[in-house]
Amino acid sequence: MKYRLLSMLAVSVMVLANAVLADPIVIKFSHVVAENTPKGQMANKFKALVEERLAGKVKVEVFPNSQLFGDNKVLEAMLLGDVQMAAPSLSKFKRYTKKLQLFDLPFLFNDLAAVEKFQQSPEGQQLLHATEKKGIIGLGYLHNGMKQLSASKPLRVPEDARKLKFRIMSSDVLAAQFKALDAMPLKKPFSEVFTLLQTKAIDGQENTWSNIYSKKFFEVQPYITESNHGVLDYMVVTSAEFWNGLPDDVRAEVKKALDEAIALGNKVAYEKSVADRQAIIDSGRSEVITLKPEERAKWVAVMKPVWKQFEGQIGKELIDAAYAANQ
Ligand code: LMR
Repeated sequence: MKYRLLSMLAVSVMVLANAVLADPIVIKFSHVVAENTPKGQMANKFKALVEERLAGKVKVEVFPNSQLFGDNKVLEAMLLGDVQMAAPSLSKFKRYTKKLQLFDLPFLFNDLAAVEKFQQSPEGQQLLHATEKKGIIGLGYLHNGMKQLSASKPLRVPEDARKLKFRIMSSDVLAAQFKALDAMPLKKPFSEVFTLLQTKAIDGQENTWSNIYSKKFFEVQPYITESNHGVLDYMVVTSAEFWNGLPDDVRAEVKKALDEAIALGNKVAYEKSVADRQAIIDSGRSEVITLKPEERAKWVAVMKPVWKQFEGQIGKELIDAAYAANQ
């Protein structure tokens, strides 16, 4: 009896010691942008919230500026367990689903409010599951902003872009969009864009005010056309293996922290789309070109036919649902 009691006590002590001494779960969060961006601030807030609420249980290591992985490698790395969370742009999932190509269709959304409305709709929420068959779980959307066109020469009408080389994200829709302009699209990692522009290996690129500002593209691109022709948003993702392996209470707390961090990131996105645009104008380094309605109509006329090319892969009903969010 005494022996039994002693061994039970020993087991309890061991369990307790294990719980106290167990290594924390580590979440490596890899991203490619600067810290002072919607995604950078979201990731840092997520780390702060998790480490405050799950102190000793979960540790978050954030790797900004492509320090750990570029976006073209990060999803592979996630499936191998080398990184647990990331938030690639919605343009970078084509190896895992064709459905998210929806977000790249030019002139689909008028503004971020329409993007938000669609993302929160049942169809938008359903898309967060689009990569699950490939082992990747979408935990939420995060905004960056509407894309603008920057170039070495003024772009006022589509013909101005002819024969120019543009860096694009790894998206076939974006490639088709620039081919429609009779321009030359080049799929390149985000980390290479500044040097490609600076050395004039390419003539232009498309990105948000926040990315153009934080990565100093405006210092090497004399013209930016305020085209708002597409959206650059993110899906925050994790691997199904990691996520489903978390204890239930930890998973719930991590998700709650993420939702709060995303809310902050979205607020930053709205603020930066105004503030970073203004900072670029104030710098005097790049001229911001505002399109006249008749000029804008020409870009729409040339780019919008791209929708038809991808209707089969994305689904017409989904495109219609997204477009309806503009109303
Ligand atoms: C890009 O490659 O231009 C963007 O996806 C970078 C980012 O994550 O905002």
